[in-house]
Amino acid sequence: MNKIRNIELAESGKQKIEWVKKNMPLLRSLEEEFIETKPFEGVRISVSVHLEAKTAYLSKVLASGGAEVSVTGSNPLSTQDDVAAALAKDGLMVYAWYNATDEEFEEHLNLALGYKPNIIIDDGGDLVHLLHTKKKELLPHIMGGCEETTTGILRLKAMEKEGELKFPMVAVNNAYCKYLFDNRYGTGQSVWDGINRTTNLIVAGKDVVVVGYGWCGKGIAMRAKGFGASVMVCEIDPIKAAEAVMDGFKVMTMDEASTLGDIFITVTGCNRVIHKEHYMKMKDGAILCNAGHFDVEISVPELEKMACEKRVQRKNIMGYKMEDGRWINLLAEGRLVNLAAGDGHPAEIMDMSFALQALSAQYVLSNYMDLGNRVVDVPEEIDKRVALMKLKSWGITIDQLTYEQKKYLESWC
Ligand SMILES: NC(=O)c1ccc[n+]([C@@H]2O[C@H](COP(=O)([O-])OP(=O)(O)OC[C@H]3O[C@@H](n4cnc5c(N)ncnc54)[C@H](O)[C@@H]3O)[C@@H](O)[C@H]2O)c1
Repeated sequence: MNKIRNIELAESGKQKIEWVKKNMPLLRSLEEEFIETKPFEGVRISVSVHLEAKTAYLSKVLASGGAEVSVTGSNPLSTQDDVAAALAKDGLMVYAWYNATDEEFEEHLNLALGYKPNIIIDDGGDLVHLLHTKKKELLPHIMGGCEETTTGILRLKAMEKEGELKFPMVAVNNAYCKYLFDNRYGTGQSVWDGINRTTNLIVAGKDVVVVGYGWCGKGIAMRAKGFGASVMVCEIDPIKAAEAVMDGFKVMTMDEASTLGDIFITVTGCNRVIHKEHYMKMKDGAILCNAGHFDVEISVPELEKMACEKRVQRKNIMGYKMEDGRWINLLAEGRLVNLAAGDGHPAEIMDMSFALQALSAQYVLSNYMDLGNRVVDVPEEIDKRVALMKLKSWGITIDQLTYEQKKYLESWC
């Protein structure tokens, strides 16, 4: 029995899935291959990734390879009810709805796992966490899984270090074809799409503060510059901070930036990077949003406590009035702004990330006995295969080393 809001929405979800399919040539070619080879015949896969059209298509591609697939979301505000309905209509087990309460969200994860998966596709580590705490009885069914994002991999590495990880997990995020494209160009574009459609305000001429200059932060800062903003970066890593300076950005502490910014974007994977002391100094009308995985980067409880009044300003914008009359605006409750107030990354970007997911799931299936209870890298052959597929989809061929060149590169004298 599915848990979705409304099956009547299926037609709109189907249109969205058809649109992304047209723009996801890598997944299309894997779908064709899987229909022929049925690599997942008899295998149960649970997917917990932001449930919008691209994820839906990945789930369908896995099903086309013979898998029985259960699907849930990875954030209460990123599930699209029409997409969930379309998947359910296609016969997949779907447990997710938009704006789930914390209890409902956990219930949905539990229901997806209740399906006794052999392989999990996780985004942020919630399925893995449940399997190692409240759902331990399901561990014997698990062969392994794949993790989509930086934060999930941090959690997995902590478990591995303490000897707590009970099955192999492939770190999809750490493949070149993931973070170079998805984290940088995907987040760079979709975060601005989320901010722009939510605020309908100009970016040119504004002071934008990007907190965290990792792969996502670089993309967000690069695109802010393209829009004509004056960009400031806050970092804790001296190397990344120096990189930001040479990329042309002003680098300073969050304390300094808090008085200057018009728009603040957190993307660190860390908690409480913007808090009370910063709210006290911010300009009237400052806009705050988060692109990191969890809603802990902007301290919303402190903002709630400081506010003497709170008012919805526009869909997905909550205004908080400070005692001195200034208003601070928070987008999408401090959850990932590109997914909670947008459609997530462009389809062509998720095509690469999800081709990695599908091939990594196949890799787990063929190799889980030998991988150990570890966090495992995506094999180089899979990473290169995805890059070649992407080039092919653009009609680009590249040079190959000649025998003589290979010899030259391998020689030392
Ligand atoms: N919104 C999306 O669609 C999306 C996509 C990919 C990743 N993510 C998430 O975004 C977050 C960042 O991912 P990434 O791949 O850029 O990670 P990353 O590790 O490459 O970068 C994070 C950066 O933040 C810095 N940092 C950490 N704590 C900080 C602090 N307190 N103040 C200032 N800087 C700090 C780190 O030094 C690092 O440079 C993660 O939570 C990840 O899961 C979101």
